[in-house]
Amino acid sequence: MKRHIKNNVYWVGKIDWELRKFHGDELSTQRGSTYNSYLIEEEKTVLIDTVWSPFAKEFVENLKTEIDLNKIDYIVVNHGEVDHSGALVELMKYIPNTPIYCTANAVKSLKGQYHHDWNFHVVKTGDKLPIGNGKDLIFIEMAMIHWPDSMATYLTEDNILFSNDAFGQHFASERLFADLTDQCALQYEALKYYANIIVPFNPIVKRKLQEIEKLNLPMDIIAPSHGVIWRKDINTILENYTKWCDDYQEHQVTIIYDTMWNGTKLLAEKIAEGLSKADPTLEVKIFNRARSDENDLIVEVFKSKMVIIGSPTVGNNMIHGMSGFIDLMRSLKFKRKIAASFGCYGWSGEAVKIMNESLAAAGFTVVNEGLRNLWNPTVEVEEKAIEFGKELATMIK
Ligand code: FEO
Repeated sequence: MKRHIKNNVYWVGKIDWELRKFHGDELSTQRGSTYNSYLIEEEKTVLIDTVWSPFAKEFVENLKTEIDLNKIDYIVVNHGEVDHSGALVELMKYIPNTPIYCTANAVKSLKGQYHHDWNFHVVKTGDKLPIGNGKDLIFIEMAMIHWPDSMATYLTEDNILFSNDAFGQHFASERLFADLTDQCALQYEALKYYANIIVPFNPIVKRKLQEIEKLNLPMDIIAPSHGVIWRKDINTILENYTKWCDDYQEHQVTIIYDTMWNGTKLLAEKIAEGLSKADPTLEVKIFNRARSDENDLIVEVFKSKMVIIGSPTVGNNMIHGMSGFIDLMRSLKFKRKIAASFGCYGWSGEAVKIMNESLAAAGFTVVNEGLRNLWNPTVEVEEKAIEFGKELATMIK
């Protein structure tokens, strides 16, 4: 199971082909994931991160077939979240005194989760740990990418950055390296990971990328804790992160609606028609929220300059699933995006006003009062929706 990466560095993680939901049921992972653990066998033997707790016994048993666990001199915990630290409890039964190198916040997180007072060694950015044969580990705190305890570890001479969650993807592959795998699927999963997990921390990512650049560390490999390892394509993923953290946008509008009896759906289609007529270069995408994967919808929101939200009025509100989706967008702290809303109603008709308020609270700039329609759209209302779309197109720069 030990797989070679470079010189005396090996992958000893777990590929989880079956995973379809992550963070409980919060995040869809249609292509599975991996929990990457790395073994460095220099004069000192170092284990970097472990795997998710359901695979703890399997991980430790596999590791025992590769090395005598007592030969592990140091354990590096780049991040305390359970998908990487989950196997520590099982591992530490065998080697309870082995030093664990991690940030001060990781100590809090590990103690809080596992209630063990292991042999912690707190490190900060720039701290070095010699591991023999002229090689050092250099620690780089990565606070809020994506937890307060996160850090990366750099291996000198081999020029490998063990970046933990940063640059990761929920992407199961037997091929280990990014350059060997399905490029379309990989790029989508890297983007989906960024849009759903990293995006709230854009300004921090921006500063951290600059800080890493200033450290002037030669980089041959970026080895994240999820998905495949970047080798020939380091510049591609670094350039993507540089673009994505800068409030990334494409020339795209995404219309997301809920509907009860298809009136709001018809409005969505007519608004899209107006947008496309006004600007044929605009990528206009329409999704029924209830029939779509919300994490895939977030990818579309991430790419869009404008988001147009539709819901009929029900119970003096928008459809409750749309409330949840706007709340999801709010938690991701998107910036520089404009928004509008629309919907049909039969009686009280509050949904559009409430959606506008919710979108504004979520950080979107709402560009107008929205489009409301009593009962089913007539031919005249269909025309009005086309005009509404055309007007919105003029607001997209
Ligand atoms: Fe992959 Fe934040 O754990």
